[in-house]
Amino acid sequence: MSTDIPPGTPDLARVKAAQTQQPVHALICSRWSPRAFSDREVTTGQLISLLEAARWAPSCYNEQPWRFIVARKSDPETHEKLLSSLVEFNRTWARHAPVLLLIIAKQTFTHNGTPNLYALHDAGMASDSLALQATALGLSTHFTGGFNRSVARTAFEIPDDYELGAVAAIGYAGDPASLPEKLREGELAPRSRRPLSEIIYAGLPLADL
Ligand SMILES: Cc1cc2nc3c(=O)[nH]c(=O)nc-3n(C[C@H](O)[C@H](O)[C@H](O)COP(=O)(O)O)c2cc1C
Repeated sequence: MSTDIPPGTPDLARVKAAQTQQPVHALICSRWSPRAFSDREVTTGQLISLLEAARWAPSCYNEQPWRFIVARKSDPETHEKLLSSLVEFNRTWARHAPVLLLIIAKQTFTHNGTPNLYALHDAGMASDSLALQATALGLSTHFTGGFNRSVARTAFEIPDDYELGAVAAIGYAGDPASLPEKLREGELAPRSRRPLSEIIYAGLPLADL
């Protein structure tokens, strides 16, 4: 069983669409993480829409610990600062994305100063809302953990109370042919996931899945 792919979906989007064990919303199926990005601009309005989606994520104590550092190609100095924190492998492809976004999380609760053990969890929730909103707008996101945290922390003068989450490359998916051969293969391959039976530890009727 898998979720219906709308007619008119381009070939690559078809290949990358999640082959689900159970039907889920089309938006969830169609989000995937490209490495080829086109140089087409992301507008300010689109970017704010993504951040608005992130803003409405749930969080422990409604702390909203997430903060976003936006580095657009149109602001070369800031863009270069964030780009240069990425490991070389990520830099090769992420440099083409018109927007890089550093997601950080405040590590203490504002109301009493105690440690917020959910800060990165909640920043992750906000990140997924952002990713799905991007998908809804026809944009793509690719999160990366491969970056040098101390380089980014220093470059953006991030206080100790904030943990660094990930860097997201954001833009329109580009032509896989623009990638080096090694990366092209992954770009054209279907996505995979562990089966539900491997990730659920509860008395659900998994034998039927
Ligand atoms: C926190 C995080 C860190 C990641 N780090 C990297 C990375 O450093 N480089 C990279 O190419 N992809 C990275 N990815 C992308 C994952 O490899 C990708 O999401 C996963 O293979 C599933 O593919 P999909 O997003 O297309 O479903 C990262 C994703 C997340 C959420």
